[in-house]
Amino acid sequence: IPPSSSAPTTSSLFDLPVLPLVPGTEPSKCVLDSFRTAIAKRVSDAIPELSLEQAYSGVDYGKKGVDFTVALPRFRLKEKVDVLAKKVIDGFTPDSYISSITHDKNFLHFTLTTPSLNSAILNQVHSLSLTDSYGTNSSGAGKKIVIEYSSPNIAKSFHVGHLRSTIIGAFLANLYKASGWEVVSMNYLGDWGTQFGMIATGFEKYGSQTALEADPIHHLFEVYVQVNKDAETDPSVKSTAASWFKRMEDGDPSALTQWRQWRALSINKYEEEYERLNVKFDVYNGESEVGKEGMEWAVEKLEELGLVSDVDGAKLVDLEKWKLGKAVLRKKDGTSIYLTRDIGGAIERYNKYKFDKMIYVVSSQQDLHLSQFFKILSLLSLPWASTLEHVNYGMVLGMSTRKGTVVFLDQIIKEAGNVMLEQMMKNEEKYKAVEDPEGVSREIGITGIKIQDMAAKRINNYNFNWDRMKSFEGDTGPYLQYAHVRLSSISRKNPSLLPLPPPSLISTSLLTEPQAREIVFLLGTYPDVVKTALKTHEPSGVVTFAFKLAHAISSAWDVVLVKGEEDEEKAKARLWMYLCARDVLGAAMRLLSIRPLERM
Ligand code: ARG
Repeated sequence: IPPSSSAPTTSSLFDLPVLPLVPGTEPSKCVLDSFRTAIAKRVSDAIPELSLEQAYSGVDYGKKGVDFTVALPRFRLKEKVDVLAKKVIDGFTPDSYISSITHDKNFLHFTLTTPSLNSAILNQVHSLSLTDSYGTNSSGAGKKIVIEYSSPNIAKSFHVGHLRSTIIGAFLANLYKASGWEVVSMNYLGDWGTQFGMIATGFEKYGSQTALEADPIHHLFEVYVQVNKDAETDPSVKSTAASWFKRMEDGDPSALTQWRQWRALSINKYEEEYERLNVKFDVYNGESEVGKEGMEWAVEKLEELGLVSDVDGAKLVDLEKWKLGKAVLRKKDGTSIYLTRDIGGAIERYNKYKFDKMIYVVSSQQDLHLSQFFKILSLLSLPWASTLEHVNYGMVLGMSTRKGTVVFLDQIIKEAGNVMLEQMMKNEEKYKAVEDPEGVSREIGITGIKIQDMAAKRINNYNFNWDRMKSFEGDTGPYLQYAHVRLSSISRKNPSLLPLPPPSLISTSLLTEPQAREIVFLLGTYPDVVKTALKTHEPSGVVTFAFKLAHAISSAWDVVLVKGEEDEEKAKARLWMYLCARDVLGAAMRLLSIRPLERM
């Protein structure tokens, strides 16, 4: 029976029967949505008290060996579970969505029909991968998000905390793009504050234009360290520095010339390093760019609210009522501070971007700062204040190079490459076969760092471990790259099967091994993995998915053969499945900001 013309339906992709469209689902991007809808329809047809949507919300992934499960008690219906289960099972006949239903205590377990599952998933993966859009969804269509991440301080060290912000932030930017949002990725540099007065003071004594141009980040840091040492014994250093910064705040052009150059050179250098990390920003701005207007407005408004007190000429905001302590808004000499700049900066960003949401990826060490800052915006009755979110993360312990503590991003990148290169050299034969050993080892090294960083929940501290990072065994970055390379080599190794026929002529029904089904089903779950990550802001779910897929593939290699399979039709179907698996593994890696390698 054709559905009534008014009811929206899913298109009859892949020759599956047409189903009603459940709101919030997107079968054209996630074909498992159709299979879930088919299950929900069975349930709601058999139990008329349940709407299709209600039934749909009860369809969950099953435990091992089961595709989907419905826990009947969750519907809170009057009838007993056994009666409900019997209603669903009685009169069941398999169709192209569902091949069997079993009843076990409170649960109904559903097994999907393998041939149509294979065909539907592989076709979808194949066609959407052509535009790199498998795994995407449209939930953010028409919405704009600003994501601020990395945000190092010029002239101070780029510590591992900034690296974590960079890695997690890049992932979030990719994730929101994949979910249809318009994303503005922003690097909010710590390019303002008394430390620049310190550097200006130190630069007169220790600075060198040549050294600055050669390596601005290291040189400015050196100067900063030196001048801080002087300040320990000579109190005049701090006051000279303070008056320098005051002149900068007052916009004195002569005090700003040098600073401008330091900033520009540092950004150039950082851009190079971000490029190595496969990270990009739409906007570089910084604390220096926050205008006085917004800050002054905010301070005045807080005064009107009776929340500000004067202490020796400095202004303090009292947030004790909300258990957020007291915080300085303005120093004695009238210069602004970090918190005030964040307040003014957020106001400016809203006026400029009119975002629907803004995320700050900042270490959990700044939880209090972010809470104070968000609280103040809501006290200012800014309606968009509630759309701000702090995505925090724990500390990285023990990341140092073999020479000592790391303070610079380029050292981390270099060390990762070296560690990997040494590892690869251990296998001389393989090493010789690599075309660009340095490039490859750097890429694998960076993958190792990223995977170690994103493998667990963000909030956990973790111990960085070079040995683990470089290992090709276990759930490591190198292992993941290796899995991708192996999948990529399969076409090169089977030229006689290429080019593959068009998808409609590939016999996916020949994929009968349980190992193949496991891979195909996993591929089908990827769009859900992306959606879950969007809810939790956790990269770890995507990392887990990538490893599950890599493991499933490695268990299939020796059973589901391509080379050596005599039935050519079968070999082609298998090759196609592996190529689809490569596309999805690659998509998951790219989402994690990793560049998947084709050869190593
Ligand atoms: N530059 C700061 C730091 O290194 C991080 C900035 C975080 N972002 C912000 N809007 N406060 O500590």
